[in-house]
Amino acid sequence: MTRRCLAFAVWLVLLSTILPEGNARRRNWYESGELVENTDAKVLILGAGAAGLSAAKTLYDAGFKHITIIEATDRIGGRVKNTELAGYPVELGAMWVYGKGSNPVYRMTRRYGISTIYDNTDWTVRDVEGRNVTARADNLYDKVDSIIKEISQFSKTYEQDYSLAGGLRYFDYRTNTDIGVAVEGTILDFETGVPSKAHSAKYLNMIEGFEDFGNNELLICNDRRGFVSMLEIMSEEVLASADTQLNLDTVVTDIKYDSDSVRVDTSDGRVFDGDYAITTFSLGVLQKDKISFRPSLPFAKRFAIDTFGFVSFSHIFLKFDYGFWDDTTYVILATTIRGRNSFFLNMNVVYPGSNILLLSLLDVSAEWVERVGEGEVIGNIMETLRKFYPDQYVDYPVDYVFSRWNFDPFYLGAWSYWPPNFTLEDMEQLIAPVGHLYFAGEYAHELHYGFVHGAYLSGVRAAEDLMTDWLENHKSEKECYEQIVNGTLIVTATIMEMC
Ligand SMILES: *[C@@H]1O[C@H](CO)[C@@H](O)[C@H](O)[C@H]1NC(C)=O
Ligand SMILES: *[C@@H]1O[C@H](CO)[C@@H](O)[C@H](O)[C@H]1NC(C)=O
Ligand SMILES: *[C@@H]1O[C@H](CO)[C@@H](O)[C@H](O)[C@H]1NC(C)=O
Repeated sequence: MTRRCLAFAVWLVLLSTILPEGNARRRNWYESGELVENTDAKVLILGAGAAGLSAAKTLYDAGFKHITIIEATDRIGGRVKNTELAGYPVELGAMWVYGKGSNPVYRMTRRYGISTIYDNTDWTVRDVEGRNVTARADNLYDKVDSIIKEISQFSKTYEQDYSLAGGLRYFDYRTNTDIGVAVEGTILDFETGVPSKAHSAKYLNMIEGFEDFGNNELLICNDRRGFVSMLEIMSEEVLASADTQLNLDTVVTDIKYDSDSVRVDTSDGRVFDGDYAITTFSLGVLQKDKISFRPSLPFAKRFAIDTFGFVSFSHIFLKFDYGFWDDTTYVILATTIRGRNSFFLNMNVVYPGSNILLLSLLDVSAEWVERVGEGEVIGNIMETLRKFYPDQYVDYPVDYVFSRWNFDPFYLGAWSYWPPNFTLEDMEQLIAPVGHLYFAGEYAHELHYGFVHGAYLSGVRAAEDLMTDWLENHKSEKECYEQIVNGTLIVTATIMEMC
C-alpha cells in the first residue's frame, strides 16, 4: 500500500468517527474520492465557539492542517461560558443538552466524560398571593403541549407562516390570566427567548428538533469544569497540529473576500490571509454591522441577516444563605409582567445544598436588567420573591452574578429565533457562502437554530461545503464507494483496489 492510499484510508476512518448518528442530511463531498492529504489550503476560522471549533475539527480530521483560529475574547467557548459563585461553577450561557440520541453535543458529553443530570422538568407554580396553583398550571401545560403538536402537524400542510401567538389562539388557547400567561411563557418564551407573538409557528421546530435526534430527554450540565470543557477538550485535538494557530484577544474589523481567497484585518493592525474563511460571529454582531465586508454582502444575504431574529436573554444566579423556595426543578412565579422575575431554576437540584436560584429573563426584561444598576434589579427580584413567598423570611442574597450578553460588543444578544414570515429561502441566504467566505454559528441552521448543537452542526456543514469547493477545484479521476450504516460511514474495499 502506498502512503497515498494509507492517508486516504486514515482520512475516511477519522471522518467516520465524527459523523453524527442517523443524520440523513449528509453532504456528499467525499464522494469524489479526492485525497485531501497534503492540501496546503489555508483556512481562517473567525470565532472559537462551538461552530468555529466543530468546523476546525471537521477540516482537521479530513486532512486540512493549516488552520488559523481568530477569537476576539481571551477564551474559547463563545456563548458557552461559566463563572464561579460561592464555590459552584454556574453557566452564564448554554447549560442544557436538548436530546440524546444523535445530538452531537450529547455525544461530546459522553465522549469527553462531561457530567450531566436529567432534567425531569417538575415544577411548582405560584400565583401573586403565593398560592400553590401547580394543579391548574398542569392542566394548562397539557393544553399548550398538545397545541404545539397540532401546530407542528398543521404547518406541514399549511403553506403560509403565522405567529406562534396566532397558532395558540387558533387551536384554542385563549387564556389571558397571570397563570395562563406564565404557563405559555414557561413552555414557549423561556425556550424560544421571545414572546410568542414574535415567533414563527411554522418554524418553531420544537418537536422536529427532538425527532431529528431520535430522543427528547433534557440534560443539565453539572460538570465542575463547566459545560465549556467539552469544547476545550475538542480544541486540544485540533490545536495539537503544529500548523494550527489559535489567536486570542484578536478582534476582526474587516473582511475582504472573493472567489479565490479571504483577507482578514484585525484591530491590532495584523492581516491574516487565507484561501478560505469561516465566520462564526454572532447574529447580533452581523446585524449591528460591526464588521466591514468588502465587497458589501449581497442584498439577499444582508436582508436575511437583518430580518432573522436575535434574542436578548439574561441569567441571574442568586446565592442565598438558606433555601426558602419550592424543591422542584423549576419554580414559576405568575408575575403580572410577562416573563419578569418569573422563571426560576432551583440550583439545589443541580448542586445539592448550593442554595442558588437561577432567574432567567428574556426580551425587554433581559435588556432592562443590563441597563439599570444591579442593586435596582436585585431589589425588584426581592420584592417579587417576598410577594410570592409571604409566609417565609426572605433575606437578600449573599452574592449574585449576572450573565450580560446583550450589550457585550462580541455577542450583542444571546441566540437567534425565527420571526413569522422569515422563509426557508431567507434561511438559505443566511447560510450561503459569499466567494470563499462561509457562514456558521447557532443562527445558521434551518432546524436546530438557537442551540449549541445547531452551532456545532453549522460548523460541520460550513467545513463540508468548503471542502466540496476545494475538491471541485482539485478533481481527480478516482472514485470511491461508501455507505452509511447505523450512522457510521463505511468505506468499501473498492478504494484500496484503485490505489
Ligand atoms: C403544590 O401543588 C402540587 C399539585 O397539587 C403538589 O403536588 C405539591 O406538593 C404542592 N407543593 C407544595 C409545596 O405544597
Ligand atoms: C405573512 O405573509 C403573508 C403574505 O405576505 C401575509 O398575508 C401575512 O399577514 C404575514 N403574516 C405575518 C404574521 O406577518
Ligand atoms: C445496526 O444496528 C442494529 C440495531 O442496533 C444491529 O442489529 C445491526 O447489527 C447493526 N448493523 C451493523 C452493520 O452494524
